[in-house]
Amino acid sequence: MSDEALANLMTENRVFAPTAEFAAQANATAEMYDVARADRLQFWADQASNLQWEQPWSEILDWSDAPVSRWFVDGKINAAVNCVDRHVAAGNGDRVAIHFEGEPGDTRTITYKDLQELVCQAANGLEELGITAGDRIAIYMPMIPEAVVAMLACARVGAAHSVVFGGFSAEALRSRIEDASAKMIITSDGGFRRGSAFALKPAVDEAAAASPTIEHVLVVKRTGQDVDWNESLDIWWDDLVLKQSTAHVAQGFDSEHPLFILYTSGTTGKPKGILHTTGGYLTQAAYTHRVVFDIKPESDVYWCTADVGWITGHSYITYGPLANGATQVMYEGTPDTPHKARWWEIVEKYGVTILYTAPTAIRTFMKWGDEFPAQHDLSSIRLLGSVGEPINPEAWMWYREAIGGNNTPIVDTWWQTETGGIMISPLPGVTGCKPGSAMGPLPGINAEIFDDAGQAVGNGSGGYLVLTEPWPGMLRGIWGDLERFKETYWSRFSGMYFAGDGAKWDEDGAIWLLGRVDDVMNVSGHRISTTEVESALVSHPMVAEAAVVGASDETTGQGIVAFVILRSGSEDGPGVAKILRDHVAKEIGAIAKPRQIMIVAELPKTRSGKIMRRLLRDVAEHRTMGDVTTLADPTVMNLISQGIDSGPNED
Ligand code: WT7
Repeated sequence: MSDEALANLMTENRVFAPTAEFAAQANATAEMYDVARADRLQFWADQASNLQWEQPWSEILDWSDAPVSRWFVDGKINAAVNCVDRHVAAGNGDRVAIHFEGEPGDTRTITYKDLQELVCQAANGLEELGITAGDRIAIYMPMIPEAVVAMLACARVGAAHSVVFGGFSAEALRSRIEDASAKMIITSDGGFRRGSAFALKPAVDEAAAASPTIEHVLVVKRTGQDVDWNESLDIWWDDLVLKQSTAHVAQGFDSEHPLFILYTSGTTGKPKGILHTTGGYLTQAAYTHRVVFDIKPESDVYWCTADVGWITGHSYITYGPLANGATQVMYEGTPDTPHKARWWEIVEKYGVTILYTAPTAIRTFMKWGDEFPAQHDLSSIRLLGSVGEPINPEAWMWYREAIGGNNTPIVDTWWQTETGGIMISPLPGVTGCKPGSAMGPLPGINAEIFDDAGQAVGNGSGGYLVLTEPWPGMLRGIWGDLERFKETYWSRFSGMYFAGDGAKWDEDGAIWLLGRVDDVMNVSGHRISTTEVESALVSHPMVAEAAVVGASDETTGQGIVAFVILRSGSEDGPGVAKILRDHVAKEIGAIAKPRQIMIVAELPKTRSGKIMRRLLRDVAEHRTMGDVTTLADPTVMNLISQGIDSGPNED
C-alpha cells in the first residue's frame, strides 16, 4: 500500500458501535476477553468442551516441542461425527444443512440426516477401496455438496484430505499429489461456471497418469460431459458411494491426528503443505464461527461465498458451520451468471442472514452499481463479513449501506491458511467496527506488532504482525518439511509466529492490516508467490529471466505484472505475451496469469545481483521511481518505464 493510501486509511475514525438490539442477542460477551486473559488455556478448554469427544484430554496444551504444538493431548474425537451425527442425535436431523444452488439453477436441499447418510455412504465407499486412517486423499471438485461430503468422509475414516482448488492446473494437482503421496483422487467430470460446463476430469487424468501413488479416482457426475475412462483407476461416485449402507460406525481419532493438508504459496517456488490436525482445529473453527458470525443454528441462514479449495471454504463452509449445526447456502457459479444480481437473488430466495465474502467481490459489485442489489429484498441480512485482504473504507461503507441496509455490523476477519481460523476481528455485539480495520485479536488470541528489532510498537505505530502465543487451530507444520516450518514462521522473531503481514495500531489501539511484507502477492484474496510465477515463466523455452511483482489493482487488490527477458533468438511480437500468459495458466492455473507481461532488455539489479522489485512495482503502479542509486546500471529503469504504458495485455 502506498504511503498516501495508508495516511488516508489511518484518518478513518468512524466507529459503528453495536446496536442495543444486536448486543442483546449476541453470542459473544465482553467478559470473554477478561476470562481468556485470566486463563487462556482454560478458555480454550471451555471452547473445546462444546464439541463431542470420544475420550477426554489429559492436558490442554503441550508446547514442550515448540513450535510444534499438541492441543487437547490424549483426547479422541471424530470431526465428521461432530459436524453431522451429533446434530442428528440431538433431534435436528430435519434441519437443512445445505441449500445448494447450482449455477444453471438446479437446487438441492440437504438436511443433516441426508448429510449423515451421504457421509456414511462415502466413508463406507472409501473403506471398500482400502482407504485407512493416515492415508492422504486429493479432492479436486467444483462447488457442489459432494465436495463437502468427500471432506467429511475422509475425516470420518481418518484419511487426511488435500483439497486442490479446481482452478489449479493438472501440474499443480500432480505436484500436490506427489508431495503428500496421495493414494486417491476424488473429483467430478466438471462443473458449471459462467454459463457453461468446464471440465475437471482431463486434468485429473493427466495428473493421475503421472502419479504412481494414485490407486483410485472417484468421479462424481455433475455435468454429464464426455470423459475418458481408465478402467484400472476410475470409478463413478454413483456406482461406489450410492450403493453403500447409510450406516457407518465412526471411531474417535487422536486429537492430533492429521485432518487435512492445504497447500499455500510461500516465498519460494514450491507451495507449502500446511498441516492441520483434528481437535484444536475444530475447536477454533467452531468457536470463531459461533462468536464472530453470531450464528443461531435454529434461525440463521449463513452464506460463505468462498470455494472449498481455500482455507475459508474449509473452516467456514465445512468445519465451522457444520460443527455448529448451522444452515448454509452453497452456490456453484459466478456472481454475474446469468445476470449481475444473482447473489442478491439468492439472498432473497433463501433469506440469507449472514454473508461472508471477499473485498474483491465487494469492489466488483460496487463497480457494477447499486441497481443490482436494489432489485432484491436484502432485509434478512443481519451480519456481514469480509476476508482475504485489507478492505478499503470506501468498499466497507458501500457493503454496509448497499448490502447491509446501513445497520449491520461488518466483521473484517484477519487470518491465514496457517492459523486455521479467524484471529483478528471485531466481536459483533461487543466491539465497535471501524471501516477498514480488523479491530483486535479475538479472546484467546495474543497478537503484537513488532519493529525490525523485535520490540513491540505502541498505538499510532506500525511494523510486523506477530502472534505471541500458540492457539488451537495453528498449523502443526509444513508437510514433510520441519525445517522450512521453523525457518518460515518461527525464526524472524524467535519463538513467536511471524505472519508475514505488515500492520499498524491506530491511536485507539485498533489494528489495521497493511498487506504482505514478503514476496507473496494477494490477487482477489488468493495468495500467489512471485517466485512461483517467475519459475513458471522461466520454464518456457523463450524466457531467459523473469521478475514478477504485485501491482495495486482497484478491484483485485493486486494484479500480477511480469517483466520478462527473452532468450536470444526469441523475438518479441504481438503473440508473445499471450503465449507466456497461457503458459503460466498451464503451469499453475488461470488465477496466476499475469495481468500484464512486459518484455524488457534488462532487469534492475543491485551490484550483488538482487532484483529490485520495489522499482518494478513503482513502474507497474505508474509511480515516480524511488531511489535508483544502488542499481548496478541506473539507466536500466528508464528503458523499462518507457514500455509500461502499453497497458494491460489481458485477454
Ligand atoms: C493472507 C492469508 C484467511 C483466508 C483467506 C486468505 C491476507 C486475509 C485479511 C484481512 C487484511 C487479510 C493477509 C494474510 N488477509 N484476511 N481481513 N485483512 N489482510 O488466506 O491465502 O492463507 O492468505 O491474506 O495478507 O497473510 P491465505
